[in-house]
Amino acid sequence: MDYDIPLFALNYGPEEEEAALAAIRSRWLSTGPRTAELEKTFAAMLGSPYALAVSNCTAALHIAMMVLGIGPGDEVIVPSLTFVATANCVRYVGATPVFGDVISSSNLNIDPRHIETLITPRTKAVIVMHYGGFPCDMDTISEIAKKHNLAVVEDACHAPLSEHAGRKLGTLGDMGCFSFFSNKNISTGEGGIMVFNKQEHYDRARLLRSHGMTTLSYDRAKGHAVSYDVVALGHNYRMDDLRSALALVQLTKLPADLENRAVLRATYLDQLRDVEEIIIPFAGHDGFVSNYIFPILVRDSARRDSIRDGIHSRRIQTSVHYPAVHRFSIHREPPAILPNTELATDSEITLPMFGSMTTEQVGRVCEALKQSLCTQEK
Ligand SMILES: Cc1ncc(COP(=O)(O)O)c(C=O)c1O
Repeated sequence: MDYDIPLFALNYGPEEEEAALAAIRSRWLSTGPRTAELEKTFAAMLGSPYALAVSNCTAALHIAMMVLGIGPGDEVIVPSLTFVATANCVRYVGATPVFGDVISSSNLNIDPRHIETLITPRTKAVIVMHYGGFPCDMDTISEIAKKHNLAVVEDACHAPLSEHAGRKLGTLGDMGCFSFFSNKNISTGEGGIMVFNKQEHYDRARLLRSHGMTTLSYDRAKGHAVSYDVVALGHNYRMDDLRSALALVQLTKLPADLENRAVLRATYLDQLRDVEEIIIPFAGHDGFVSNYIFPILVRDSARRDSIRDGIHSRRIQTSVHYPAVHRFSIHREPPAILPNTELATDSEITLPMFGSMTTEQVGRVCEALKQSLCTQEK
């Protein structure tokens, strides 16, 4: 169906076209100066000492597991209410993901109290995912991690420039992983970036990004290096300069994009606050966030799908974030008991949210939701 109001719309214009053309005309398409500039710019925006651009966030998460030396026999605690990549990366290195529940219907982030009950002598790390860009309880999670000597990796795909206590998400744990997938706040089609607090992690990740080779082709082509050794079993997880050029333009647009999203969220909250049939997660949160998505939960989860159908029939697109990972065939065993996650995954509806959306469009979405709540079969 062609929707009048899509879930997401690309914030692209002539600026991205010109940047791509300039990259093409530079005659250097793979990892090169634009990627280096992207890393420098992103690190500065986050206040992080090190950033490394990669081919996508799945690669970033995989690199994070390798950098931490996680392997067979190890366990990593992950949320289930996330995109499957957050858990798959643990399996890539032969370790076991152990699923943690979310806090409640009004806070869809992983519950630190549940994390603590899942820790065993085999636990090596926790991966948190800042749902919608809203910060996990990083103070408590960091304390638990310190007490049990666990690494913390932030899947910050939803959270570029989101803050917790004045610090940017992604910089609070050992490593932060971001995605530039088409529908993210920063869109380049495919792409991603990692940030690090420790130089040794950054250096290792840089090696693993490119086959464990000690130099990049760009350095060799420019005469900065003549040869290379291979000192680790790495991958080809490099970002290319064409996409880095797009990301650099997207970064210039990000602050204004997020400002508009904050206005849209305030409008949603205003118009939906008194709708008794729904819960709006994070409604009371007042810190600066990316507002990657606008999620609601339908109190009567049995009605969720018909309410979505009602909204779609009014030519407005919705989604579900997410089908719970612990229910997927490959992650079903051993069974995890996650009552809050199960309730959330069965009752969540994601309403449209994007930087160029208008408050009038938010009004139309709210009207469509209210009509669907009134008219759909119970
Ligand atoms: C929470 C989360 N984690 C990981 C990923 C994987 O990112 P990518 O598509 O860049 O590999 C995504 C992207 O869809 C995501 O939303």
